[in-house]
Amino acid sequence: MPENKNIHTTFDRLLKRDAKEKLLNQKSRVIWMTGLSGAGKTTIAQHFEVALNKMGYLTQVLDGDNIRSGINNNLGFSEEDRYENIRRISEVSKLLMDSGIICINSFISPTNEIRDMAKKIIGEENFIEVFVDAPIEVCEQRDVKGLYEKARRGEIKNFTGIDSPFDIPDDADIVLHTDKLSVDECVEVCLQHILPIIKYDQE
Ligand code: ADX
Repeated sequence: MPENKNIHTTFDRLLKRDAKEKLLNQKSRVIWMTGLSGAGKTTIAQHFEVALNKMGYLTQVLDGDNIRSGINNNLGFSEEDRYENIRRISEVSKLLMDSGIICINSFISPTNEIRDMAKKIIGEENFIEVFVDAPIEVCEQRDVKGLYEKARRGEIKNFTGIDSPFDIPDDADIVLHTDKLSVDECVEVCLQHILPIIKYDQE
């Protein structure tokens, strides 16, 4: 994209993130759940958000189906559209984070390239990657939305794990085996790792 010489940004003059974090008494981060459809990303994100809310943290969950019904409703599931989906979400997440909010994202984000792009936009130091890991057989058996069945029948093309790739993340901060752990146990693992990071230390 060519740089537009007529755009004059004012980022340097806006109130800084730290002032918002101080106001909210929390450190903002982006917690990024990646994994196959049906692995449990959104369920864990929802429960994790409730747990944080009870402790006084301000959060926002962003999730594939919701975002794709609004801001990204012009995007499909080609490699190019998925990339654009995650690019926009990353920019939105950064805005939320700069407002001091803890952003909990639930997106398949299937390739290393796509997740690296998200990390670059958000900043590696702000990005907590959670691999919500369930074998495809388990996701397919759960088939909560009936999409695997449709993909197997050829009614949906480019379905992740069937005829579209998913790269196993090799450097995730947290790995949750949702075929072995309960939702509460997964939330507990997230809390243990993330609470020390989001705690605001008043000097
Ligand atoms: S991503 O690959 O671009 O990160 P995203 O997380 O936004 O995907 O959306 C995934 C959701 O879209 C799935 O949970 C599922 O409900 C729905 N979906 C519809 N078609 C597909 C498809 N071809 N592949 C994966 N998910 C799909």
